[in-house]
Amino acid sequence: MRRKTFIQQGSLLASGMLISPVLLNKKKNATSKKIMASFTPYVLSTWNVPRANEIAGAALDRGINALEAAVSGVAFEESNLLNTTVGNGGAPDRDGEVTLDACVMNHKGDCGAVLAVQNITHVAALAKDVMEKTPHVILAGEGAKKFALSQGYTPEDLLSPQSKKAWKKWLEKGNYQPEINVENHDTIGMLCSDQNGHLSGVCTTSGLAYKMKGRVGDSPIIGSGLFIDNNIGGAVATGLGEEVIKTVGSFLIVELMRQGKSPQEACEEAIGRIIEKQSGKPDFHVAYIATNKKGEIGSYSIHQGFSYSFYKKNINQNIISKSIY
Ligand code: GLY
Repeated sequence: MRRKTFIQQGSLLASGMLISPVLLNKKKNATSKKIMASFTPYVLSTWNVPRANEIAGAALDRGINALEAAVSGVAFEESNLLNTTVGNGGAPDRDGEVTLDACVMNHKGDCGAVLAVQNITHVAALAKDVMEKTPHVILAGEGAKKFALSQGYTPEDLLSPQSKKAWKKWLEKGNYQPEINVENHDTIGMLCSDQNGHLSGVCTTSGLAYKMKGRVGDSPIIGSGLFIDNNIGGAVATGLGEEVIKTVGSFLIVELMRQGKSPQEACEEAIGRIIEKQSGKPDFHVAYIATNKKGEIGSYSIHQGFSYSFYKKNINQNIISKSIY
């Protein structure tokens, strides 16, 4: 972690954070003097992912569009063998197979997703390829892998020695209980706003550790794990996908923002929709992050321990989220 630029701040600072999005650049050329409007780009990601955030932020600062920047940012964690919840090295299913889910959505409302893909590390890029190079929105399993190979992706064994060892240990009991992840990472959702003020997002995950074979969570489901409406804002989810799917969480947050709620208020209401169906404190975790077209950001989680990463103007911060418990 680059501590010089990566500042951990309390939730009080985070709440109501207002980003001034518009920067007026005066550009001169030989024949005319133009005033060009451009927006200050920013990146908002689930969990403490400084390098991924920095890669995406630097790309945006160079003028790369929001979707390309987000895909390049999460690719770092997809390759990171130490991250056991995303990409290569992700925790396997009960049969010991790593299956990955991802989706992307851009400012035009175009989207792509891949579900339960084996042997391909960069599933966010693959989801983008589904969006851009096929007539479909979703490809699953073998079909997604076949498409990846046709596009030149290199097949890899995604079960790292570390994840294999943890799975073998889990097999000794084989008790399945979703864990409340309050570690540094889980599913990575990333929202980017580029120099044109366009919003795009990405969500990528290996899903729940030791899930049943074929189980797919919220992360590749447009509207659940991720939703973008470039007129309103965007949201992404992390945590127990089943609960996010039941409430179509990310779409809900964007619609609440459309009705006038701030990103913070919308995230809190979306968590509330999950909690109201539970009897007491749930033993699972869900968290959301969101941003709107004014550049305001918000986040909320069920339990303590969730944080999000925020990059703007070369400053990368990890901010502790508010939580209901
Ligand atoms: N949010 C990731 C999953 O439930 O698969």
